Amino acid sequence: MKSTVIANKDFTISKIDGRVYGAFLEHLGRAIYEGIYEPDHPTADENGMRGDVVDLVKKLNVPVVRYPGGNFVSAYNWEDGVGPREQRPVRLDLAWHTSESNAVGIHEFADWCATVGTEMMLAVNLGSRGVDEARNFLEYVNHPGGSYWSDLRIKNGRKEPFNVKLWCLGNEMDGPWQVGQKDATEYGKLAANTARAMRMFDKSLELIVCGSSNPDMASYPDWERIVLEHTYDEVNYISLHMYFANRDDNTPNFLGLAEKLDTYIETVASTIKQVKAKRKSKRDVYICFDEWNVWYHSNKKDREILEGNSGWPHAPGLLEDIYNFEDVLMVGLILNTFIRRSDVVKIACIAQLVNVIAPIMTEKGGPAWAQTIYYPYYFASVFGRGTALQLQVNSPAYATTHAAETPFVDVAGVQADDGTLTFFLVNRHTSESIETEVDLQGFTGGVVIDQQVMTNPDLKAVNTANEQDKVAPRKGDDAKIVGSKLSVNLPPYSYQMVRVR
Ligand code: AHR
Repeated sequence: MKSTVIANKDFTISKIDGRVYGAFLEHLGRAIYEGIYEPDHPTADENGMRGDVVDLVKKLNVPVVRYPGGNFVSAYNWEDGVGPREQRPVRLDLAWHTSESNAVGIHEFADWCATVGTEMMLAVNLGSRGVDEARNFLEYVNHPGGSYWSDLRIKNGRKEPFNVKLWCLGNEMDGPWQVGQKDATEYGKLAANTARAMRMFDKSLELIVCGSSNPDMASYPDWERIVLEHTYDEVNYISLHMYFANRDDNTPNFLGLAEKLDTYIETVASTIKQVKAKRKSKRDVYICFDEWNVWYHSNKKDREILEGNSGWPHAPGLLEDIYNFEDVLMVGLILNTFIRRSDVVKIACIAQLVNVIAPIMTEKGGPAWAQTIYYPYYFASVFGRGTALQLQVNSPAYATTHAAETPFVDVAGVQADDGTLTFFLVNRHTSESIETEVDLQGFTGGVVIDQQVMTNPDLKAVNTANEQDKVAPRKGDDAKIVGSKLSVNLPPYSYQMVRVR
């Protein structure tokens, strides 16, 4: 089987906002406790943060991390997480039916972000709270000093403000599972008022309003239209969330979900344009895809933990999906979609980063390791920065329940500022290799400088604490350039990255 791709240096989509490779950490399960924070761990630093996890996160070059939730934020009092640790209250977390010790709060999280070299993206609680909490939290976090909340921050040990620019106005406010769920009008008004108050403090903040929790919500996409009609002039982004599942073990259909993702982005982008036109606005609002990943492996275990609940445990092992090889392909497809839609998707967060539906897993007192999906995320985040190319892809296709035609070959191309070209290629064919030829029109140079391939005879192969490298990339050697044509063989069910200079 063959496919062809045309890459022309004059056909580009957009400069990619590096923040599209962001991540998310919620006070949920073992993401914070035993994930990033474990004071008794042999690798823990003076702040109790696990050094092995820091190393794995640093390699990913994560530009931004969303915190502290998620559903958790909708009944969270940020004040509980500041001040002397021994005086912090233990609270019941209604979202995940657990106890929250508050041993980690905004100060500890900020220090961890500085250690791993990432920016904070904070969410305010618009579920159980509102404008007042948001303005106080903002003053605590960003005001230099001389006011009640900023002086409290200084008293709590942090002289300089944290200077957080990115703020989420609540989380999944359309969801019946959310503490303080609202309808679109109610939420739109609250979000607009909160945004206005926050902008009175600092006009330059980047504010993110909640879109639908997923494209299957009954209120989608009217939710987006109504919420934006209230907030368009006040916000910079609307958030989208989507999780991907292969519950009926149908891999072709699972991988075809990338088409549904593309339609979701296209629909919300059109809604943004509709509201912009209606409001006769000159401003643009973009998409912040601040929760995405494969999520389903742990559903049964979570039901058992939550339904047979034995009280309010602290940091139980919730949402601990163990990812397989097939998920590498799905995550590669999702990231390719974000690159191709970099004209509208400016920020995105893999949900989540450690232990909870995450590329990094840890054992209490034991090792930390890279799950299978760590690798496509790593390749995109490290090498997928620059300008997205408008590729013309001709590939044989197949039908799924999501789209009549899903191409077997999925490609995204990026030109870095130094001219290096990087292609991310996924072959969705069950059994056939696909010879792919990329016509490099107008680009100078022509040497393959790297080829990283991920294949596996077992779609369900996983990495574990004992077998950490069962699914890992290997260096490829068959990508070649002859004249202006790059040829590369895509084995069945494979992911690869090819770089050309
Ligand atoms: O990421 C896990 C959960 O998924 C988040 O808390 C919530 O926002 C979403 O439903």
